[in-house]
Parts: sequence; C-alpha cells; structure tokens
Amino acid sequence: MFNIIKIDSTTSTNSELKKLCPERNLPSFSTLLAKSQTSGRGQTGTSWESEPYKNLTFSTIIFPEHLPVKDSFIISQIFSLAVKETLDKCIEHVSVKWPNDIYYQDRKICGILIENDIVGIDVLSSIIGIGLNVNQEKFNSNAPNPISLKQITGKEYCLEELLEQILNIAEEKYRQFLSGNIEKIHIEYQNSLYRKSGYYTFEDKNGCFQACIKEVKSDGVLMLETENKEIRPYRFKEIRFI
Ligand code: BTN
Repeated sequence: MFNIIKIDSTTSTNSELKKLCPERNLPSFSTLLAKSQTSGRGQTGTSWESEPYKNLTFSTIIFPEHLPVKDSFIISQIFSLAVKETLDKCIEHVSVKWPNDIYYQDRKICGILIENDIVGIDVLSSIIGIGLNVNQEKFNSNAPNPISLKQITGKEYCLEELLEQILNIAEEKYRQFLSGNIEKIHIEYQNSLYRKSGYYTFEDKNGCFQACIKEVKSDGVLMLETENKEIRPYRFKEIRFI
C-alpha cells in the first residue's frame, strides 16, 4: 500500500510535493496525484500539456540512503522501466527514449521530470514527476509528437489502476537497487531503448550525423558510434534524435 495523496488541481505535482515534504514526515514512495495541473512542468523549463481528468499526472518522492549524485541515473532507469513495463501490458512497441521519455513507436506517450535534492555529494531526496497520456483524444500544444493510450487502442483506462502498477513495479526495482542489484536494472534499461539497434540521424552542436547507439553508461552518458567507428559520448541535452 502506498501513501497516495489525491487532489483535484494544483500548479504542478512536483512543486506541490516538494512543498508538502517538510510539513509531513513522508515515507519513500509517497505520491501526489492530481486530476489537473495548471502549470505542469516539463524538462528544461518547458510546460507539460495534459487535459484535466484525462491523464495520469503525479509525483512520487524517494529518500535513497547514500546515493551519490554520480550514480543517480539509476532513478531514471527504475521509473522509466516501471512505466514501460506497465504499458507493455496494454500495448506493443513501447520503448525508452534516452534518457527517460517513454515512446510508442516514434511518438511520446509519457514524460518524466526528476528533481533531486542534493546535500554534499548525495541525493537526499528525489521527486519523480510522471505525465502519462492515457485517455486524451486530441493534443493542442505544439509538443512535437504526443500520443495517448486511448489514441492507440480506442479504449478508456482507469488512471488509478495504471498508477498502482507503475508504483508496484518501481518499488520492486527500487528494492533490487537497495539490495545492490543495479546491473539487472541497467541491462533491462539498455534492452528497452528506443532505436537501440541500427543507424539513425542525430544532431549535436556541430550538426547532423549518422550513428548507432553503442551503449548507455551506468552514469547515463549516451555512447554513439558513427559510421566510421568513432565513439562519441553525450550527456542530456547535448544531442538530439532527428
Ligand atoms: C518532459 O518534459 O518530458 C517531462 C514531463 C513531466 C510531466 C509531469 S506531469 C506530473 C509532474 N508534474 C509536473 O509539473 N511535471 C511532471
């Protein structure tokens, strides 16, 4: 059983959960679920479009003990796999677009915003905000390629059941991580990657080039291999999938 706080509306569940934190002594996996957000936030200052009452918009907090910031990519891996595995029960062709977007074929079905509270070299707490497009039938913003579960299958889904499944899978993987089984999670993550094999066009600060994904390092660095076998490392936002 998870500690799930349900509210009708808030600005952003990530921001609201952060505020609730010092007021309440929350256990790991405490979750704030909102039916609607007035200023949902995306990565790098973008906004997150989600029609009220139609989609899953929630944030979960964890308090990892002794997780150095340099190892914190494990949080991304755990939660992106939890969403992917939940969606695998409903649809095929789900993958994790590095670092933590969830894709159905070439379209984005879920975004994850992770905000860490860092003290010294350790992550004291991490808020994982998840926006999963579920029952929305039309997207209006200029987000490049959104899609929802309902657009794929024509069916309506229960938001709270999906939430429960995501949290169950994430908690199981979090336990694996706490017991030191990081390698298994990392292998599953790499096996789930969007465009994990074959050559595709990427764009970095020097322009476009063809490359394939060689691996994602456990610290989250994406290693690309160009056609002439040059290996190039990239951190988040240094590279774009075209
Ligand atoms: C992205 O840009 O891909 C990340 C989107 C994350 C959206 C979710 S919705 C719930 C939580 N609250 C927010 O304000 N953002 C995250």
